Amino acid sequence: MKILLTGGAGFIASHTCVELIEAGHEVVIVDNYVNSQPEAVRRVEEIVGKSIRVYEADVCDKAAMNRIFDENAIDAVIHFAGLKAVGESVQIPLTYYRNNLDSTLTLCETMAAHGCKNLVFSSSATVYGVPDEVPLREDMFCKGCTNPYGWTKYMIERILEGVVNADPEWSVVLLRYFNPIGAHASGRIGEDPNGIPNNLMPYITKVAAGQLKQLTVFGDDYNTHDGTGVRDYIHVVDLAKGHVKACDYAAGHKGCEIVNLGTGVGYSVLDLVKTFQRVNNIDLPYVIGPRRAGDVDACFADPRKAREVLGWEATKTLDDMCRDAWNWQSHNPKGYKA
Ligand code: WQD
Repeated sequence: MKILLTGGAGFIASHTCVELIEAGHEVVIVDNYVNSQPEAVRRVEEIVGKSIRVYEADVCDKAAMNRIFDENAIDAVIHFAGLKAVGESVQIPLTYYRNNLDSTLTLCETMAAHGCKNLVFSSSATVYGVPDEVPLREDMFCKGCTNPYGWTKYMIERILEGVVNADPEWSVVLLRYFNPIGAHASGRIGEDPNGIPNNLMPYITKVAAGQLKQLTVFGDDYNTHDGTGVRDYIHVVDLAKGHVKACDYAAGHKGCEIVNLGTGVGYSVLDLVKTFQRVNNIDLPYVIGPRRAGDVDACFADPRKAREVLGWEATKTLDDMCRDAWNWQSHNPKGYKA
């Protein structure tokens, strides 16, 4: 199939490009590089040994999106494009609602106008809000999100369910990611956040690289085995493979499915820190600090539906995630920036 990836130069999207091409699909990318680098696409081309058609454009731009569909017989779309920083979304909510919702509405209108009705959407476990229980299952009632970023993901899920209800010819898979970390084994693509990382693993790798002084562990008084926050870390390559399976599923089915992409195993902050130190033989300086607003004690997936519906499950270990994350950071101290 010829598959359009919106936000295709991003962390998860670039890894998904590799897996799609290696599975025999053709990929087209649209990205405005607001949160990514063109170099990422060049690295993907290097890994797969093929050139990739890239459109530098904003998914909100109707004319640009119509041109892409006019020039390419797109069979399916994976919609990664969107602003995704939780803290930033609290500061500039209108920008997040405008960008993330507008881009999705423009994309769906353009797809419908060109008869393309297969869509995989990059959703997030953040739509579950503060869970009453774990593991999280797709049929659980989502009580409410804790930030505008999460609300945009929740709203887009509801919009896409409405599209499918109105036109049963659509096939939509809503993938709820847990905590993607790690990098392609080659060390040529990886996570390259702008500025000081908000997320745990990129912060750890920059401390290990000597670019940041120490890690602050946000709280050690949570109701978990060691008091630090527990999350479902999933290797980004496993996540990417899940997208290939989701595209295959969407091509053969109609309707809308919500699917968790997680390992089903929760690890604490200190579990990750200790694993990173052991696997990479690096001493990682850290201090225990206060809780971060909005954090929950524990969040991890019930992964059964992904196995049953998509025939997919994560296979990489926390050791793999820590090794690959450091391999990327240590070989690319400035990420994709020269
Ligand atoms: C993980 C754990 C922190 C940084 C976020 C988004 C979510 C998704 C994944 C997009 C928590 C602790 C972190 C640090 C720390 N993104 N931590 N020191 O918050 O689970 O999820 O990223 O979909 O939507 O909310 O990920 O990596 O920020 O935090 O102790 O410097 O690490 O308290 O327990 P989170 P995270």
